[in-house]
Amino acid sequence: MRRFVILGHKAPVSPAFTLDDLPGSAGRIDVLCRAIGASLFLSHDLRRDVEVTLVLRDQVEIRIVGSRVKRLNPDERSTAALLRKALARLAEIEDGDGEEIESTPGIFVRPSGLSEVLDRVYQTGSHPVMLHEHGDPIESMEFPEDTTFFLSDHEEFSEDDYERLDHLERVSLGRQPLHTSQCITITHYLMDLRRNDTNAELVLCHKVWGDPKAQLVKNLLEDFGIPATIVSQASQSHLPLIVDGLGEMRIMVFDRDLHRAREIVADYFEELIDRDD
Ligand SMILES: C[S@@+](CC[C@H](N)C(=O)[O-])C[C@H]1O[C@@H](n2cnc3c(N)ncnc32)[C@H](O)[C@@H]1O
Repeated sequence: MRRFVILGHKAPVSPAFTLDDLPGSAGRIDVLCRAIGASLFLSHDLRRDVEVTLVLRDQVEIRIVGSRVKRLNPDERSTAALLRKALARLAEIEDGDGEEIESTPGIFVRPSGLSEVLDRVYQTGSHPVMLHEHGDPIESMEFPEDTTFFLSDHEEFSEDDYERLDHLERVSLGRQPLHTSQCITITHYLMDLRRNDTNAELVLCHKVWGDPKAQLVKNLLEDFGIPATIVSQASQSHLPLIVDGLGEMRIMVFDRDLHRAREIVADYFEELIDRDD
């Protein structure tokens, strides 16, 4: 399960807002609706393995569950109407016990704030991280598939948010400040690539003799952002082919990287030969 938590700082916590002015009097709820869309929509389909949680003004939590949600359409107005319905249900049971109510299929609402949401993330065993311009580059980080990404809305995280999320790893998608929905789309893209890689077979890119050379080629490819794995032929053979790190080493890459990887290796060895001349 992939999860996104979006902190809405200005969005309403009561249903008394008009659908005709989402970016204005409705407290930029359009930003949240776009984030919901980016989290859940595929072309003509929904991501069933995704959950989005909105935390509105640290008072109300609305959770949208991809595997159950119905009546969600790509336009922001109808998404805002579902959120308004959730807030109306919450208002009806003001003296409730704080339990979640399913306001429409797959949309759950309750009075709750950031600390409680974070607690529940830990209880589910999901791995929480903060998406932030000034974090570590996402390419250099490992995540389980069940990661919860915390984002702010159109505003910067507040002092209170920072206080409660400060212990989380900060993950950056580059130094450019992006829109919340753009961050979600990019995160999906990168996480999808990783998931495909986990299931993909490696193909042979290059063979060398000896471990130091193999490491050199692997590092070279990784400098270009191409993941590479060294497979020693000795481990696949009955013959003792490796002596003191010598032996045939195969540098394996993903099929999608094969063409570029071979070009890089070819360029590198050509340069070495030129230099020897
Ligand atoms: C519109 S931005 C928040 C306001 C923004 N800091 C500003 O200066 O206007 C919305 C959220 O998207 C996420 N975000 C934006 N750019 C990012 C980036 N380059 N890397 C990672 N997360 C980013 C952060 O969670 C941020 O709080």
